[in-house]
Amino acid sequence: MIARYAIAVSLGVALLGAPTASVRGQTPAPLPRADGEKGLSEAQLLGKRLFEDTNLSEPRGLSCQSCHVPSHAFQGNNGSPIPGIAAGSTPDRIGRRKSPTLMYKTYSPAFGFYKDVDDGKETLEAKGGQFWDGRASDMAEQATGPMLDPVEMNNPSIEAVVAKVKAGAYADLVVQVYGDDAFADPKAAMGKLTAALFAYEGSERFAPFSSKFDDTLRGKAKLTPIEARGFALFTNPKAGNCIACHAGKTDSKDPTDWIFTDFTYDAVGAPRNARIPANADASTFDLGLCKQPGLAAKLPKEIKLESLCGAFKVPTLRNVAVAGAYYHNAAFTSLRDAVAFYATRDTDPGRWFPRLKTGEADKFNDLPGGYKANVNTAEVPYDRRPGQRPRLSDQDVDALVAFLETLTDKGME
Ligand code: HEC
Ligand code: HEC
Repeated sequence: MIARYAIAVSLGVALLGAPTASVRGQTPAPLPRADGEKGLSEAQLLGKRLFEDTNLSEPRGLSCQSCHVPSHAFQGNNGSPIPGIAAGSTPDRIGRRKSPTLMYKTYSPAFGFYKDVDDGKETLEAKGGQFWDGRASDMAEQATGPMLDPVEMNNPSIEAVVAKVKAGAYADLVVQVYGDDAFADPKAAMGKLTAALFAYEGSERFAPFSSKFDDTLRGKAKLTPIEARGFALFTNPKAGNCIACHAGKTDSKDPTDWIFTDFTYDAVGAPRNARIPANADASTFDLGLCKQPGLAAKLPKEIKLESLCGAFKVPTLRNVAVAGAYYHNAAFTSLRDAVAFYATRDTDPGRWFPRLKTGEADKFNDLPGGYKANVNTAEVPYDRRPGQRPRLSDQDVDALVAFLETLTDKGME
């Protein structure tokens, strides 16, 4: 399945922005390339220039790379004081969601409601798309988002972005890749620039499959006993059951069958992050999937919009050990806490949530009253009640963390 999406994605690039230089039979001048750019196609090289261009924000100074740092698995917070939560092009503009890794993102299918068979019953479930709430159906659509987002690059319009590129250092490269009339129409030009960004995001650098885990699949490395125990817990439906959402094909040795997400959405109930400025207003909540613009119109009739409030996309766990902040709201700064939360969220909620005046833990405090019921309390590992033994012991949590550390690609920090 996953391989098929990857093919669809590369076809998408071809349709959206087929490079024209070679088609027109010209011999393009060789492009100046740095080390590490040698393997990139021209469209990918253009995408890289755009990705790194700090002139494309308003005011200037911010690029995609400010929040998606290559050596940090394309995560980062642009120097904001809050781990995981980035500052925008002016320091007072701080978002409310964690900058996700951009690695392995081209494996995501387009957003939609897909058939799923659960206990022999056929159901429809939301899946795919880009952003924590899937609001960009695919990656090409995604790239205009940050350019215009006031808490990110803050440009006033598509025209303004295109004008900057046209006046910029690599305008020639745009013409070389997309032809003499590349800039003729701003909307069409923006489509080409986002296609180039998307082509770059599809380059090997974003999906190197170079982790220790990949090497074990290839038979070139061996997990240590604690890592192997973590892997066993990860796949065991009665222990971690992580694989139910952070998917991989247990009978496959092909790294591309192990993206560690099934691209679905779920409400995990992460605690509210008091450091996010928007959260100072106790009446505002980030409701995730149900607030995806236009979702009501796409909704199959058997699914209620409200039932999707609190759900966020299952993230890949590749490179999670170097993330430094966890969950859509960066509620945790330690990977061990992020994993331990699964173990004792329901057996010992006082460890994770603030106390109410009654002394009781204010469980799922990042969701308003009625939506707390949307949090998944049915599936392993979070199907326990206070007083019951957690599905995972402290040693199990250590083993899971040791396993997750094997998912870090070479050179990531
Ligand atoms: C100021 C920080 C910032 C900048 C600059 C920025 N991003 Fe992001 N990016 C984020 C955040 C935060 C999210 C998650 C937003 C959400 O889900 O609502 C995100 C999400 C994404 C996603 C979706 C990934 C996923 O897991 O679904 C992609 C792809 C992406 N950004 C690419 C880019 C590109 C390309 C650029 C430059 C044109 C860029 N970003 C600039 C912070 C930033
Ligand atoms: C029923 C689905 C489901 C299961 C089972 C599950 N997860 Fe998750 N996981 C999610 C979702 C959804 C998120 C994102 C939730 C959010 O941000 O609000 C997530 C987030 C995470 C994160 C944070 C990643 C990041 O980039 O911020 C970690 C780490 C994680 N899960 C590890 C695990 C481990 C380890 C297990 C098994 C013990 C597990 N998960 C089981 C659905 C699941």
